Amino acid sequence: MSQTYGSIFLLKLGSKNLAVVSDPELANQVLHTQGVEFGSRPRNVVFDIFTGNGQDMVFTIYGDHWRKMRRIMTLPFFTNKVVHQYSGMWGEEIDLVVRDLNNNIEKVSKEGIVIRRRLQLMLYNIMYRMMFDAKFESQEDPLFIEATRFNSERSQLAQSFEYNYGDFIPLLRPFLRGYLNKCRDLQSRRLAFFNNYYVEKRRKMMAENGEKHQISCAMDHIIDAQKKGEITEENVLYIVENINVAAIETTLWSMEWAIAEVETLRLHTPIPLLVPHMNLEEAKLGGYTIPKETKVVVNAWWLANNPKWWKNPSEFRPERFLEEDGGTQAVVGGGNVDFRFLPFGVGRRSCPGIILALPILGLVIGKLVSNFEMHAPQGPEKIDVGERGGQFSLHIANHSTVVFKPIGGSIVKA
Ligand code: HEM
Repeated sequence: MSQTYGSIFLLKLGSKNLAVVSDPELANQVLHTQGVEFGSRPRNVVFDIFTGNGQDMVFTIYGDHWRKMRRIMTLPFFTNKVVHQYSGMWGEEIDLVVRDLNNNIEKVSKEGIVIRRRLQLMLYNIMYRMMFDAKFESQEDPLFIEATRFNSERSQLAQSFEYNYGDFIPLLRPFLRGYLNKCRDLQSRRLAFFNNYYVEKRRKMMAENGEKHQISCAMDHIIDAQKKGEITEENVLYIVENINVAAIETTLWSMEWAIAEVETLRLHTPIPLLVPHMNLEEAKLGGYTIPKETKVVVNAWWLANNPKWWKNPSEFRPERFLEEDGGTQAVVGGGNVDFRFLPFGVGRRSCPGIILALPILGLVIGKLVSNFEMHAPQGPEKIDVGERGGQFSLHIANHSTVVFKPIGGSIVKA
């Protein structure tokens, strides 16, 4: 549609407005120069349920609550100190993946395996160790099965296009009653799961240790902030919910694309339209008037793949990042930003998890390629890179079976 209607267009979808931006200069305006005006998030009937009407951080409007939540989450998750503290643990979890592949070398080097499942366990362990100092035993661990099931149902219900008719046309909303009840039921069971198995355990441990308790994971920091009256018990649970949706699958999808076609985050990025932005008041963009409360999406995928800005965009040519002129550039938060390449967004609502995601991604792919040659299984010449998307995610449609051959023909230890 961007090719037909241009770098900015407005769609009227029932009672809602949707603006789509597909130009680096306009992306600069939405995310940076007018970052405050466009710094809110639209919600809908389903996201109201999954965020408790904006008690979380990812989907809340731009304002005091968002600032407080982002500040409280930064200390235990998004600093260089955290990266330094946990990088050894990330290495351990990746080594366990290599060990498991080596232990099953007969099968993985001939038939191959669906590597996603093992990487998913690794990423859950990385994030749950950081959050709760807890980990899952294996892919068969009942708590792992339950956590992944809850999160996958949450993603399917929230990302489906099935409920849009009732969201866009309020008159039709009564027909959504069954769908919304399903969402409410899932959300209360899912939050109870996080609370009973993880948050309450940390609370108990902190209460038992009293003054002597040493803060040893993100949840301890967050409970501490709640005890000081900065946030509520509900906010604590919504932070856990946000990390479960924002951190794990996004990083996993990037790994799957990286294994399947090397140039991850540009050719395929897990959130190709970023998380939608919204202007609370009427605003101007590229000379047009954007009505208040318009959902504004930045087409990051097209910015990163438009032949107008990239030479042969479908080719794997990493040197393009050094050779090609970046077009719209700006200094944001001390760094130079090329507005053609925004897999994590930029500015106020940009992804704070970039500080964790990039080194974890690098470590995992580095470890796999230094230990194994990776191939498509016998038969197909290439891995199938068909795509499947939801309201704002894009992932590989068929999880790839990958054959892992130890480098040099002998088993390399992790
Ligand atoms: C490769 C992995 C990841 C990708 C591609 C990614 C991408 C994104 C994008 C595109 C946004 C929205 C930016 C915008 O709206 O302008 C976002 C927001 C966010 N991401 Fe990530 N992300 C990744 C991993 C993570 C991780 C590991 C964490 C946490 C540990 C995380 C936490 C968040 C949070 C909390 C937000 C909401 C920020 C806000 O609204 O203020 N992400 N991410």
